[in-house]
Amino acid sequence: MSLTFEELSRSCVGTDAVVPFLGGERRYVNLDNAATTPALRQVQETIDRFLPWYSSIHRGTGYKSRLSTEVFERCRATVADFVGATANETVIFGKNTTEMVNKLSRRLGLSQADVVCLSDAEHHSNDLPWRKVAQVVRLPVDRRGAMDLDALETELRRGRVRVVAATAASNVTGHLSPIHEIAALAHRHGALCFADCAQLAAHRRVDMRPPEDPGHLDLLAFSAHKMYAPYGVGALVGPRRLFDQGEPDHVGGGMVEVVTPTRAYWSQSPDRDEPGTPNLLGAIALARAIRCLLEAGFDAIAEHEQRLTRYALARLAKLPGITLYGDAGWVSGEDRVGVIPFNLAGVGHSLLSAAISWEGAIGVRHGCFCAHPFIQRLLELSAADSSRMIDQVLAHDRREIPGLVRMSFGLYNDERDVDALALTLERFAREGLSGRYRFDAVLGEYEPEGFRPAIDPSLGI
Ligand SMILES: Cc1ncc(COP(=O)(O)O)c(C=O)c1O
Repeated sequence: MSLTFEELSRSCVGTDAVVPFLGGERRYVNLDNAATTPALRQVQETIDRFLPWYSSIHRGTGYKSRLSTEVFERCRATVADFVGATANETVIFGKNTTEMVNKLSRRLGLSQADVVCLSDAEHHSNDLPWRKVAQVVRLPVDRRGAMDLDALETELRRGRVRVVAATAASNVTGHLSPIHEIAALAHRHGALCFADCAQLAAHRRVDMRPPEDPGHLDLLAFSAHKMYAPYGVGALVGPRRLFDQGEPDHVGGGMVEVVTPTRAYWSQSPDRDEPGTPNLLGAIALARAIRCLLEAGFDAIAEHEQRLTRYALARLAKLPGITLYGDAGWVSGEDRVGVIPFNLAGVGHSLLSAAISWEGAIGVRHGCFCAHPFIQRLLELSAADSSRMIDQVLAHDRREIPGLVRMSFGLYNDERDVDALALTLERFAREGLSGRYRFDAVLGEYEPEGFRPAIDPSLGI
């Protein structure tokens, strides 16, 4: 029987958890899903059901090994189907998007004579790996994080661009990139397009499109922990011919045909890029989450998150002292995933997010969200501001560094969660913070004075 969206939205583990806060105890409101999502109950149950069968994969001859190997490959096929990959594409499992982009950057045979184009709004994971292997050209973005496509075309015309690496959905503003249009542009000039789908995969259908389609995505990556399957796996999908050849970036067991004292003959893809024992449970979790998301339907997921985003934008916009980042007119919530960055006048982002947690029992994220260049642009920091910030950070003093607070939705959030945050912010704006906080230089965070709840011993950790 098929899972409805309503059933799925009630299926996340721990969404009824009660946590300590300065007022006692309260149901925890998690508005930090862009960082990581809770697990689906169906994922947890599937892992529990499989554990008695868990065994070594590849080359084990026992029944459990054979079963585990078959299950692992089935999970790979589920991921391939999910993104619309063809038999000419390979799915490589790794730890997360970061590891997958690092791998990709080292597997394309790039040199400093090659150009990789990326936007100024990329997550560091889709920026720093490329800097190590090629010349990176950063393209300007608007306040939503939308890449300047004219600037991209100008750069492509110079004829040195090998890869356009673009985020499919921004982890700062939620902006959805016209990723297929970007791919078509890249292809017209002989470049590959890599889509960072870390913020997309749980919220909109990822579709590579067939290779003959001009907007086909050559390569993409995403993380299972951002799509309700937090068991430490990520996936990279791309042309098989590309990964069947070249030097693997990591070497060891499980990815060789034969080894002599002086030579090694690498396996073909995907084994060539999966050295060591793979994360079978992670792959099972991801495949189960994918099937649940597909059953509930991405139309329903998108509709729910858009409605909630519109509601939150309208609710927050009315609060005194609030600044919402992105475009001033960009409040419809139509063309973005549910990620909303904001600040409140008179309270630094770090202190604000601590107070939201300790006075509201609400989880949000603050800082620069691993997208420092974009945040500096959104905050309109001058060169002097930026260099002051660098000095402060290098002196391990993070009290005053600029940043934002971010709320981000999962499929289980609802209007009550938005109201909880809005009421908390309203109270701060009207009455100020009620807790007393001190800055913990080691944690780099504000902590409530004299209040440090102990970890529940029943967790056994
Ligand atoms: C847009 C984007 N890309 C890449 C990443 C890196 O993902 P991971 O931390 O799972 O490697 C993130 C994580 O927040 C992200 O939001």
